[in-house]
Amino acid sequence: MLNKLTNLTKLNKNSTEEVQLDLSRVPNHVAVIMDGNGRWAKKRGLPRIAGHREGMKVVRKVVKRANQIGVKALTMYAFSTENWKRPKPEVEFIMKLPEQFLLTYLPELIEENVQVRIMGEKEGIPSYTLKAVHEAVERTKMNNGLILNFALNYGSRYEITQAVKRLSSDIEQGKFTSEEVDEQKLGSYMMSNEIGDPELLIRTSGELRLSNFMLWQLAYTELWFTDIYWPDFKETDLDQAIYDYQNRGRRFGGV
Ligand code: FPP
Repeated sequence: MLNKLTNLTKLNKNSTEEVQLDLSRVPNHVAVIMDGNGRWAKKRGLPRIAGHREGMKVVRKVVKRANQIGVKALTMYAFSTENWKRPKPEVEFIMKLPEQFLLTYLPELIEENVQVRIMGEKEGIPSYTLKAVHEAVERTKMNNGLILNFALNYGSRYEITQAVKRLSSDIEQGKFTSEEVDEQKLGSYMMSNEIGDPELLIRTSGELRLSNFMLWQLAYTELWFTDIYWPDFKETDLDQAIYDYQNRGRRFGGV
């Protein structure tokens, strides 16, 4: 009975309190800014890349949990257009993660009916990274379970600029007039248009920013921030975020 409060999960292992998720009101699309990998590593005297490696394992856990509870799409901010400013070895390490992630987990993702997608500027991404992701996209495109959308070399202002350029070019070619441009039309040029806007955004590590992530799509999204560093993020934290989301009143500007 999915339309009842059926799912009881513990808030965290030290807590006896339980969260009741209403599985009939799980957000369709959850976007995640996975932050705090570097600080997680520093706290343990480890190199920053150790945090990214651990963060990759958390992606797997969160995908599994999201799929179990009926989330339809997860967009994970894996690399921003600004992240190129990081030291080269760190950038190279992060760019190897998608390949490593898919080498390790693709068979399981296929089994769980997950569809892998990518959103971002392809130019600049190493060919081995693109190859791994494109292969995963190809091999999972017939699946109809959770969409795992990696935002890779993604920046929202870049996305909006590209959308406006393509829209203007279509106007110049006479496909439609500027009078016909409305929010829906412009939105259709955004990279995640097929998935729909996220209902919930999670950002870890205590930072209270959007960092150029899905600025168009987040217009009415519920924002959920936690101090937990991404490598420490657990399935129960996802439950907690969704529980809090379910207990907020969304009015979309109405009353
Ligand atoms: C932000 O933490 C994290 C990143 C820029 C990289 C995110 C990548 C992962 C979590 C792994 C992704 C996995 C796959 C499969 C692509 P930070 O380094 O900015 O942390 P800090 O703010 O503490 O320095």
